[in-house]
Amino acid sequence: MRLVILVCQLSLFMRTEAQLPEDCALSETNRAPENSDITVDCGTQFMDLSIYICPVYQALYNESLMVLNNQINTPECLGLRLDHDPTSLKIQISNE
Ligand SMILES: *[C@@H]1O[C@H](CO)[C@@H](O)[C@H](O)[C@H]1NC(C)=O
Repeated sequence: MRLVILVCQLSLFMRTEAQLPEDCALSETNRAPENSDITVDCGTQFMDLSIYICPVYQALYNESLMVLNNQINTPECLGLRLDHDPTSLKIQISNE
């Protein structure tokens, strides 16, 4: 019985490890969410949102669940993780 519980705990632990993006492991943003995790950059043609991704995982969400207005089938409503800033999710709202 103890072995079963141990194996279950181990698989839960490994599952959690697998979900957290590798880039979060050493990131100082790998902590509970804060209001300041979202920054907004406004322009005349666009508005850029930047959201720290590690706190999103800490809150048991992930980038696939971070969809504007729940528009899952609209690619423009999904955030992007860019190579030069892998711990942030970028969403651009444009009036074009
Ligand atoms: C995000 O979580 C949902 C629900 O748990 C899951 O279906 C989806 O595959 C996950 N996406 C990623 C990128 O892990």
